[in-house]
Amino acid sequence: PNSLQPMTTLPTFFIKTYGCQMNQRDSEALSCVMEEHGFRQVDHESKAGIIIFNTCSVRDQAERKAIGKIGLMKKLKRENPHLVIGVIGCMAQNRPEEILDECPHVDFILGTDKLHEVPAVVAEILHCRRGIVNTDADDAILGQMGQHKPGLYSDFVSVMRGCDQFCSYCIVPYVRGREKSRSIADIVAEVERLVAGGTREIFLLGQNVTAYGLAELRQADGGASEVSPFGDLLRAVHAVPGVERIRFTSPHPKYMNEAFIQAIAELPRVCPSFHLPLQSGADRILALMNRGYTAADYLRWVDRLREVRPNATFSTDIIVGFPTETEAEFEATRAVMRRVGYDMAYIFKYSPRTGTKAAEKLPDDVPQEEKERRNQILLDELESHVAQANQAWIGQIVEVMVHGESKTDRRRWSGRTPENKVVIFTPRDGQKPGDLLRIRIIRATSHSLFGDIVAEA
Ligand code: 5AD
Ligand code: SF4
Repeated sequence: PNSLQPMTTLPTFFIKTYGCQMNQRDSEALSCVMEEHGFRQVDHESKAGIIIFNTCSVRDQAERKAIGKIGLMKKLKRENPHLVIGVIGCMAQNRPEEILDECPHVDFILGTDKLHEVPAVVAEILHCRRGIVNTDADDAILGQMGQHKPGLYSDFVSVMRGCDQFCSYCIVPYVRGREKSRSIADIVAEVERLVAGGTREIFLLGQNVTAYGLAELRQADGGASEVSPFGDLLRAVHAVPGVERIRFTSPHPKYMNEAFIQAIAELPRVCPSFHLPLQSGADRILALMNRGYTAADYLRWVDRLREVRPNATFSTDIIVGFPTETEAEFEATRAVMRRVGYDMAYIFKYSPRTGTKAAEKLPDDVPQEEKERRNQILLDELESHVAQANQAWIGQIVEVMVHGESKTDRRRWSGRTPENKVVIFTPRDGQKPGDLLRIRIIRATSHSLFGDIVAEA
């Protein structure tokens, strides 16, 4: 890689990341790209000469949080006029003018397809101190940004960008553009590089992974619904020696089929833990959301996954207070949640996003207090369900991939089972992240399982 300026003159950088795993992955790749160009990463904004905000637009709260934080940079910039402030990610794509209006001290705004241009843009700003905004679509991004931090035992691999689904509430298709899948060969090559560097768990990422490769296939042969390019991708990644565990997020129920189920059935290193966004359990709301499935369809896929992987655990995304959602429809969501018995759920209060169908055509008519109430009911019910369901693990011996020190007690370490349950244990000497252990579970709360090491797995 070409350094844009002599090493000694380049400022340090800090990246603050908001939002989903795609943003985390983009930030990881961006920091590698910056380092390849001779910039050095620091662990706090106060030490940085370049501060980059990787933003999220999925809900109003996420946008307000980022804008608030970017606003605070004004003071830092007054103290240090050489500071470079940049905004990337979904909000940069979605509302560049608003960011500039509210935060005129921002130096650059680059859209979601332009991340690979950050080093050159920063160099230009350092050189001639002018603002740069570029939110153009750019297919080149698909072949860029494959870089990873070395040596992570678990790492994300992006398999596609964008989303063509247009769920009526969702801003993503507008900010991340058309769905584009990377080739299996490119993805496998990236996985092989990761494994060679010590990575043991591969987390495949996409807005809609079960639609992986389908847009390209439809162009090629008019579309065959009983094939699963994502299943083929799972097989290819599974065949890479050294890959111990494969996870993915998020599959869309509408694009599940028997070919996909077959791949899940065949591949033991694909973890039996599925994040399957439900959004609502009421068919009328699902139709208004443009989700393309009914509650019964959804439950059928949950059952099929449980049939082929009896240990399977499930997590989900739910939106409460979608426009016109009645009490009975909320109860339908609650009923589906009970029936599935999720181990984890992200529950969101509907937040209208300008430009989406739901925001333009439907009234945001569920009062805020009612959204809060529905939200709280689901959270409480989930917590008590998980607390109870976790008791069933007591006495079992599970395979744990070591994560590292526990957040709450540094003498204890944490790790995860294939079913994605967090296990807390006392480590052995020389224990390192990525090790596989067999652990007997002796205690369980709603958050974690606790156990003792039986043996190396
Ligand atoms: N309001 C509330 N939640 C939303 N999500 C996406 N858009 C909105 C919105 N406008 C939620 C969905 C999605 C998750 C990433 O965020 O549940 O699956
Ligand atoms: Fe948004 Fe739906 Fe695409 Fe998910 S599948 S990113 S919810 S439009």
